[in-house]
Amino acid sequence: MPDIDDASISRFYENVPFSRKEFFLKGSSSYDWGMKNRLARIFRPSDGRTVMLAIDHGYFQGPVRGLERVDLNIVPLLPQVDALMLTRGMLRTTVPAMAQNPIVLRASGGPSILKDLSNEEIAVNIEDAARLNVSAVAVQVYIGGEYETKTIHSLTKLVDAGLKFGIPVLGVTAVGRDMTRDAKYFRLACRMCAELGAQFVKTYYVPQDFGTVVASCPVPIIVAGGKKVEEFEALKMVEQAMEEGAAGVDMGRNVFQSEKPRTMLDALNHIVHDGWTADQAMEFFRSSSEGSLTSTDARDE
Ligand code: R5P
Repeated sequence: MPDIDDASISRFYENVPFSRKEFFLKGSSSYDWGMKNRLARIFRPSDGRTVMLAIDHGYFQGPVRGLERVDLNIVPLLPQVDALMLTRGMLRTTVPAMAQNPIVLRASGGPSILKDLSNEEIAVNIEDAARLNVSAVAVQVYIGGEYETKTIHSLTKLVDAGLKFGIPVLGVTAVGRDMTRDAKYFRLACRMCAELGAQFVKTYYVPQDFGTVVASCPVPIIVAGGKKVEEFEALKMVEQAMEEGAAGVDMGRNVFQSEKPRTMLDALNHIVHDGWTADQAMEFFRSSSEGSLTSTDARDE
């Protein structure tokens, strides 16, 4: 017998307005549901922030220190990261499909460190990104580089493809050896990425006027770590970037080249998500012990 549709029952809540929650991320309110849902996997809806681990360095540098054995050195860290940035080769071969982390897929490449890095092209078809169930694709743009226009076209092509599938694009502002790293340069590079359609941008922190880079970019900005420095220096950089409006970090070498990568990730999480200062995080880092990984550890996790 069919249910009786009894309008007298109060389950209709006629006097309660339909919920219209604004999407929590900067500049992202007008996207389609799939794209919002993917972004909400990368950035925690509770605070709009993310701790991403970047391990894509091999796509032009080969097995850098700390990434010699991703199965042993990185896979055990996955429970501590909000998102993982890597290539499809490393994803398919090495990351267990049971992993719950959203994936930000490196989608540009070409030259090695032996050549002009700005001569990159799109290196992943968007259908393959969808097949891999990734949450975003990442493309390097070399503003001011020899092949600037080519890398910008890679970004715009990926944005067009990503919009068809609801896959966001992360614009990564690369800096060549000869490029100035100041707020003026990063305002230009980040704003160009956003204007040309990137749904979020990764850039470098600069001590002078980083807040102007964030303020003039209408989408979330996350900061890269850069080359390995002392832990306190890296933590201080993250503290300052967060204070000046960054939406998180996408850090590589300062995590996986640290003597205590797990503890470093914990420290980063405390700064990004819990509002700790770099001093607090450093005290935590110093006082925490961390055993070295073995192949058994990695298989067990
Ligand atoms: C460049 O190699 C990649 O885009 C890295 O993902 C990026 O540089 C972040 O890694 P790191 O913190 O080591 O600079």
